[in-house]
Amino acid sequence: MASQLEFTRGFLWGAATSSHQVEGNCTNNNWWAWEQEGGHIADGSVSGLACDHYRRFEEDFRLAAELGHTAQRISVEWSRIEPEEGRFDERELDHYRAVCGAIRRHGMAPTVTLHHFTHPVWVARQGGWENPRVVDWLARFAERTGRALGDRVAVWWTINEPMVAPLVGYLLGAHPPCVRDLGRALAVARHTLLAHGAMYRALKAVAPATTPVGIVHNMMYLEPLDPGSAADRAEAEQQDWFLNGWYLHGIATGEVAPPAGGGEEAPGLRGSFDAIGLNYYSRLLVRAGGFDGSENPLLVRRPGERAEFTDEMGWEVHPPGLRLQLLRLAKLGKPLYVTENGHATLDEDARARYLPIHLREVHAAITAGADVRGYFYWSLMDNFEWGEGYAKHFGLIAIEPGTLARRPRPAAYLYRDIIRANAVPA
Ligand code: FCB
Repeated sequence: MASQLEFTRGFLWGAATSSHQVEGNCTNNNWWAWEQEGGHIADGSVSGLACDHYRRFEEDFRLAAELGHTAQRISVEWSRIEPEEGRFDERELDHYRAVCGAIRRHGMAPTVTLHHFTHPVWVARQGGWENPRVVDWLARFAERTGRALGDRVAVWWTINEPMVAPLVGYLLGAHPPCVRDLGRALAVARHTLLAHGAMYRALKAVAPATTPVGIVHNMMYLEPLDPGSAADRAEAEQQDWFLNGWYLHGIATGEVAPPAGGGEEAPGLRGSFDAIGLNYYSRLLVRAGGFDGSENPLLVRRPGERAEFTDEMGWEVHPPGLRLQLLRLAKLGKPLYVTENGHATLDEDARARYLPIHLREVHAAITAGADVRGYFYWSLMDNFEWGEGYAKHFGLIAIEPGTLARRPRPAAYLYRDIIRANAVPA
């Protein structure tokens, strides 16, 4: 057996970030406003200056290039680009032109997400994802940003993890606007799907024809807790449809299917992707009857089965799920990218184990026929982990609190060696 599992030439290697989590001073969006209310963020922090990446991006990309990266995944901040409804700020578009230019100058491919969780305050005030007009607002934003950056972007992503707003913002009530209402969550889910389709079309109309445009979907790998139980199997299938299935069905067929509609056909949605980004972190074991609130669903395990959980997030480390989700996505017949995968920890041995065991699964998926074109570790650097604040350490690069000094962690060098070899040890 070969001692190295080689990747295809030109495979993109990089890390991911998002604007609100790293830039600092994203003062004009709904997350910033929510943080100021106090009491919402687990460690009592606010995003504040974050990593000051808005000003230090040049240094950060130089460091990423030194660490061997060949691509970066970033997001642009809608609330900067369109600070008021219909008013686009050319200076901010110039800023992101400079950001993409810096990535390129350092020899890396910029891949850019348009919407990564945050809405401008003016959007949130008008109902955010619940307002059907969000579809047109996002399409216009995509069109303007696509025009400004189109010649510099290698891959466009419309929306990051479209199921997070309905699930976490409108069903679990843990992200702003903290609603717990299934009906409203389903309306929001429908709008994220329609918005993706509209953004895809808007970008295709202005960006170079060869630049792929896709969606970034987070796909937990769901399994029945007891594979021998028909009831557990049915529950796992139903939850998988809610979290993963109907969205993929929507972009593939153009149908807004239940649970977020009654089978309506959305014009222009069918085939609205040239690539798919997969964010993969964990497996979820599902038992019939759903969750009664007495247990953390992420910690459910099978009796007698060994399981490892990440120490800071408590997510199960389950690499085969990455391969299986890639193979499932491969059936859609388009290029795939792993747009996020990572481990929040201060235990560098654990991070160093995590990387190769996941990359081997990516390699196995490619061997089995999946057209995977790149891998982006989450995250380039420690950052503001949404409702968890600054207590989670996903970074290849540590950010020293206070001074914001950048210090690559040992796993960053392990990753550099993998990238240099374009191969992972077997
Ligand atoms: C994903 C998000 C990303 C980060 C990681 C840990 O769901 O896209 O911003 O929070 O989880």
